[in-house]
Amino acid sequence: MRIDIITVLPAMIEGFCNESILARAQKKGLAEIHLHNLRDYSADKWKRVDDYPYGGFAGMVMQCEPIDRCISALKAERDYDEVIFTSPDGEQFNQHVANDLSMKQNLIILCGHYKGIDHRIREHLITREISIGDYVLTGGELAAAVMADAIVRIVPGVISDEQSALSDCFQDDMLSAPIYTRPAEYKGWKVPDILLSGNEAKIKDWEMEQSYERTKRLRPDLLK
Ligand code: ADE
Repeated sequence: MRIDIITVLPAMIEGFCNESILARAQKKGLAEIHLHNLRDYSADKWKRVDDYPYGGFAGMVMQCEPIDRCISALKAERDYDEVIFTSPDGEQFNQHVANDLSMKQNLIILCGHYKGIDHRIREHLITREISIGDYVLTGGELAAAVMADAIVRIVPGVISDEQSALSDCFQDDMLSAPIYTRPAEYKGWKVPDILLSGNEAKIKDWEMEQSYERTKRLRPDLLK
């Protein structure tokens, strides 16, 4: 899959995309992440991409032209499944949205900035608006990085043990059971006996019980 991220701050995302899971996915040829500096699409000699809002409101607004030019240039090369805009007033990003987007071929993510973007972009070019939570970030770069990570890690083959992505927290709207490694006892802190029993069926039941109990206690909203 391919993700094109349009931003005024590419350096903010670049390091992130070249590390960990995103780097591995790209090396394996399973994902491509391309960063586009919106200023490169500005017709202005100072490379400005924003202007004052009509109506005398405070703040600056991202202009139509550079965004349209960038998105049009990308669309001329290939078809896109979604043109996503990161915005605190968008639909809430969660594991279901990540799963859905991980099955797409080509995505554009436009990082919002300043006070917002000219609404005509949202009306005419954006197909999906996504928020990563009910708080306001300075820009959409962190949101784009969060989404790219969550989407790419579940592309088949990216995580070597596919099972481990399938058993993630939230994958079936449940939190994961606690997990342990050696030693079986550390400073008197013990791993639950059941995990050392070797009884696979009982361990599965325990895992499901724990998962349900933790979800009920910590995230009862998920069970509704
Ligand atoms: N831009 C600013 N805040 C945001 C949020 N919570 N989610 C996505 N994009 C944003």
